[in-house]
This record gives sequence, structure tokens and C-alpha cells, in this order.
Amino acid sequence: MNPSLDPDTRADLMIHEMTLDEKTQLVHGVGWGVLRSGAPVPSADNGGAGFVPGIPRLHLPDINLADSAVGVRMSAREGRYSTLLPSVLGMSASWDPDLAFLYGSVIGRELRAQGYNMSIGGGMDLIREPRNGRNFEYSSEDPILAGTMVGQLVRGVQSNHIMGDIKHYVLNDQETGRNFLNAVLDPRSFRETDLLAFRIAITLAHPAGVMCSYNRVNGDYACENSYTLNQVLKHDWGFKGFVLSDWGGTHSTVKAALAGLDMDQPGDDGYFSEPLKNAVLDGQVSEARLDDMVHRIVRSMFSSGVIDEPPLRSVVDPFRGRDDAQRIEEEGVVLLQNNGGILPLAPGKVRSIAVIGGHADVGVLSGGGSAQVDAPGGNAVDPQPGTSPWGRAIYFRSSPLRYIRELAAPRASITYDAGTDPAQAAKAAANAQVAIVFVTQWMSEGRDAATLSLPDNQDALVAAVAAVNPNTIVVLETGGPVSMPWVKAVKAILECWFPGIGGGQAIANILFGRANPSGKLPVTFAASDSDLPHPKVTGLTEQMMNFRRDPAAMPRNGPRFRPQPFDVDYNVEGMAVGYRWFQEKNEQPLFPFGFGLSYTHFAYSNLSVDPDAKSVRFDLRNIGSRAGDEIAEVYVTLPASAAEPFRKLAAWKRVSLAAGAMQTVEIPIDPLYLSIFSPADDGWSRPEGDFLFEVGGASADLPLRHTLRLTAIRLQPRPVEN
Ligand code: BGC
Repeated sequence: MNPSLDPDTRADLMIHEMTLDEKTQLVHGVGWGVLRSGAPVPSADNGGAGFVPGIPRLHLPDINLADSAVGVRMSAREGRYSTLLPSVLGMSASWDPDLAFLYGSVIGRELRAQGYNMSIGGGMDLIREPRNGRNFEYSSEDPILAGTMVGQLVRGVQSNHIMGDIKHYVLNDQETGRNFLNAVLDPRSFRETDLLAFRIAITLAHPAGVMCSYNRVNGDYACENSYTLNQVLKHDWGFKGFVLSDWGGTHSTVKAALAGLDMDQPGDDGYFSEPLKNAVLDGQVSEARLDDMVHRIVRSMFSSGVIDEPPLRSVVDPFRGRDDAQRIEEEGVVLLQNNGGILPLAPGKVRSIAVIGGHADVGVLSGGGSAQVDAPGGNAVDPQPGTSPWGRAIYFRSSPLRYIRELAAPRASITYDAGTDPAQAAKAAANAQVAIVFVTQWMSEGRDAATLSLPDNQDALVAAVAAVNPNTIVVLETGGPVSMPWVKAVKAILECWFPGIGGGQAIANILFGRANPSGKLPVTFAASDSDLPHPKVTGLTEQMMNFRRDPAAMPRNGPRFRPQPFDVDYNVEGMAVGYRWFQEKNEQPLFPFGFGLSYTHFAYSNLSVDPDAKSVRFDLRNIGSRAGDEIAEVYVTLPASAAEPFRKLAAWKRVSLAAGAMQTVEIPIDPLYLSIFSPADDGWSRPEGDFLFEVGGASADLPLRHTLRLTAIRLQPRPVEN
């Protein structure tokens, strides 16, 4: 307990005092607890998804783990309040690492106030599958953007003396068949995409935990995959924390322990309790390996501060949380279209607005599954006391209509139509000067969207309104990318993601120009499913969909239908994830990666690249009449010898500029992002040849170009500590 010693020494001193039973006790949870009705809940359990009892005689505290992807889950049961933040994807659309840190610090602050000492948020899977039900918990299709944003988020969590986590390691890129699918990807593409994203986040955040995923990866389950756990994560990246299984993702004792799994959750499957102890006693697993598991857990408890600075229960500040959530949303909204500059609406000029659809009269949509935050006052569209149930679209009471009414001129006429009947909605819209149609796409863990199309006939709703009102504005609240067959018929489109508890006001502020939109897409919006590398979600058959519709059969495989394992072949696109695929195929997406408009305009000039490619420098000017933030993006195309026929994001910077102001922007470039992975050399190197640097405001709009000849360099085998 001497805080002047380093965490590894302190952990070793403690392990020296432990019995074999005590060691085994630390490497598994005590069961499903509050997650499953009827399961035993120990009295010290704080009501979260997981619980690992500590060792009082050694002053080692319990570990209370809480799902907390977009806010702390399961607060209703304990009569607590948690802030619902915008989706991680929406926050990532800000491309603002400081905002990601703030996002994590809100979660860490509220976990601490509620008595938790470990977060199991930190969704890091790459958006390979735009219809993945959990994309709202994830960050981007680009590994550098995703790794940076999630790394900063987890740093924010841990800044509150909470153990952070990054999940689901790895290639858990779709929900369909997640418990039995086998994700297939060649070693080089794997290192340069999904693994690169995890590497960046883990190097930035040094999280206490990495949660291995349900699926198989190139044959072995992710929680017993020696390549991804022992070799890549622990050996190559030097990860010092512990690997915990996703809930029910452990499939063996000896194989998992030897492959690098350190903690079995929720733990009542018995793999890491008596059977692990017996495996140690009969020598199948060495005691040194068990000590290593325990060391990783205990050293993380010391290094994060949960022992020296344990959680201090207090009242969550809902006002501060709401303000933070609103700010995050305002930075993350993406203005996709603004024909004729219809936005921002001028309060003095707009006399009548028809607001339609999306339950905009009562609230904003949230994402489901283990990321679901309990709605204060219950679901705004169907108030029921208690926990927000799994499998239902939950709306939070932050009504865009209310704030639109507040910001419009006092005598403006504002009507609301639910949008359930397109003909009736068109009638309401026909008489108004402006129509604002809210459309929603509810997404959740455990299910993927079958298509990019909006559900519930909402495309017909938008088309019907746009046919009668030339000033139609569409506000999207979606889990991820959707198609928009009506794009040419409407004036303006705002992507607001899942907007969080400050969402209603943030959306109104953007509509009326109190906030200037500045977000850029962290994912490509394809025009249709047929343009995607996988035109259909792999394995999403009719039978699977029926199975999915029966909540009683989830998440366990029900008795009536046993789905067969299948491969998801990510070699189809390999490294060409997202925007790279569209470039390689020379196809136009609906809206490209990195794209987003502002109420002002920016001009780029004077690019220069440091001779060693350590940084780029250029001038950025706000040429409009309003202050605004621009996300300036730097892409690199590697020499032809690299065999990567697409540009890749290498760096970016979010810059605030007053109207008319100019700034010379300098952005450092990490040599890793100019390098390729060679499985034969088992390492990274920057190839020799001509590198094309391009700079601009979107992946498909890069006015500045500079070609630089670079020599070959080999990179350090391990990430540099920072
Ligand atoms: C999810 C995890 C979550 C865990 C505990 C699993 O179903 O995949 O993300 O942390 O449950 O609730």
C-alpha cells in the first residue's frame, strides 16, 4: 500500500501474499448478477454488468464494472441518474480529440459518483459494415480517426481514477452471428486496419482492460486467440493491462488461459474458477501464468488509482452532464446539404414551420443493447417506470419541437405532425413556409439493419413532404449511414446521429444558426447497399431475421433454431475499408468520408511538406461572414510499390477561425501512417518512393497536392510510450 512504489512492484508484493484460491478468485466474475433475472447478486455488487470480489485482508477492493458506452447503464434499478451522451459516432464526427476526452470524462465522473471503479465502454471496432447495429457505439471506418478518438475517450474515463476498457477485440464488426461467425482477414490488412485502430487507442490510453469479442478470428475464438492476444496485443504492443472476455465469450480453460485471456466474465460458466485452479495444480497452466493474470489486474488497479483514490459516492450533476452532452452534439452534427443556403433559418423571416415525424414533439432517439442508458422519466414515447427495456426504441425527453418553438419568432406558426401517414404529413407541410422532417433509424446490439434504407416507410414520408414543400429540411437521427433516395428533392439535410440528452436544444441551435455546424462524416454514406463490399450483411438470412425478432431467443441461441457457423470474408475489401473501397472501385458515394458543410466557407492554399514528412503546413482562411470551425484533413497516397491504390487519412486538425481570419496550420505526421506492415518481416516500414500528400476539407475535395520522394525506413518494433 506504499504509494511511492510503482504499480508493478506493488502488485508483486500483494501477489506474494495471496493464496491460490485468492488468485483464482480475481480472474473471474461472480455471474450474470443483475443482468439475468434470478441470478445471485452479491450484496457488495454495485448493480453493474460485472462484479469481482476483492480481498479485504489485503485491502484489495472489489471491482465493480459498468457498461458505459454512451453514458452509465442501469441506473434506474438503483434510483440513480446518468447523462445520455450523443453516440460515440456522433462525437467522432467532431474529429476533436479534446471533445473525445470530455466525452470520456463525463462517463468517468458519473461512474465514480455512482460507486463504480471500472468502465466497460470504449467501443473500438472499425466500421467495416455500415449496417452493424453497434456502429453508434463505435467511431469510424478509418483506423487513425477511430483509434485517436476512442483512445482520447478512454483517457477521459481514466482521468477520474476509473479503470477503462477498450472493446470488442477484435473484428466484431457485425452483430449478425456474432457468437459463432468466423471473421477472415489476411495478416497485413488486419494489421493496417482493425488492429491499427486498437493499437492507436491502446497506446494513447493505456487502458486497464481490453475486452475480447464473441466471434472467431481467422479460426480461433477471439478470447482464445493466441495471435491477437499473446502475440499482437501483449508482445508486439506491450499491453500491460488485462484481457477480459465479453460476457459469455470464454470457451475453454486451458486454451484460453494460455492464449492470453486474463479474466472470464461474467464468470459463472466455470472456466476460470475451480477448473483453472485444477489446471494450475496439475501443471496444464503454470502458476507463473496465473500470477501474470493476477499481476495484470492488480497493477491496473494501482496504476488507475482505484486503490489510492477509490470512488467517492456523490450526486451526479445532471445539469453539467446535459451541458456537456449538448456541446458534444453541437460539434458533431454534420450538415450534409444546404441548397440555396436555406439554413440557418432566420427567426424574423420564417413565419410558419411544419415539424414532422421522429417523435420530435417529445424527444430524441437513443441506441439500444448494453449501451442503453435509462431514460429519466421513462421512454418519452411510452412512459413506463423502471429500467429502459432491451429491444425497444427509447426516446429521451429533449424535444426538438420545444426548442424550435423557443427560437422561432414569437408569432411564427409551428405545427407538429407525427409523420405516420405520408399523405397527412404532406397536407400539414403544404401550407407551411418550411417543412422540417425528422427521420430515425433505431439501432441496437444484437441486430444489424438489413439494409441502408430508413425503416418504417420514412423514405416515402420525406418524398411526400418534399413533393409539396420546396423548403424541406431533413433531420436524421440514425445509428449510422443510411441511403437517401430523396436527396435531390430536399433543400437541406442534417445528420444528428443519436443526439443525447441535450439533443433537442442542440438541433434547434444549429437550425437557427446559434451554433455553426462543423462536423464531418467519420463514415462513408453509400448511395445503396449494392455499392458496398458486402451488398448484404453476411449471414443475415430470413431465418436469422426471424430468430432475431424473438427476444426470448437472444442473446443465447434458442432451442428452435441453431444457426450454423459461417465465415465473414473481410478479404473482399481487405485494407480498402470505407472510403478506400469507393476510390478503388471508382464509385461515387452519396456523401464521402470527411465531408460536412458549414454556414461559412474555407479556402486552402500554400501547402508545404517537411522534407522528412514529419509535418505538413498550409494556410487556411475563413472566407465567409461567420465564425466557424474547419476540420482540415491530410491524406497520403503511398508509392505504387506499396500496392495500396487509394489515399488514406494521415492527419487532421480542427481549427476555429473568425470571419475573414487566416491561419497557417501545421500538422505533425506520424511515420506509422506512412508505413506498411510486412508479415514476412513481422514489422512496419515506410517504403521508398513518391508519396502524394493532399489537403482539404473532405476525402473527395482536396485542393492542395504535393508529391515528395522519401527513402525507406524501418519502424521501431513497439509503439512508443507516451
Ligand atoms: C456486450 C458487451 C457488454 C457486455 C456486458 C455483451 O453482450 O457485447 O459490450 O459490455 O454484454 O453487458
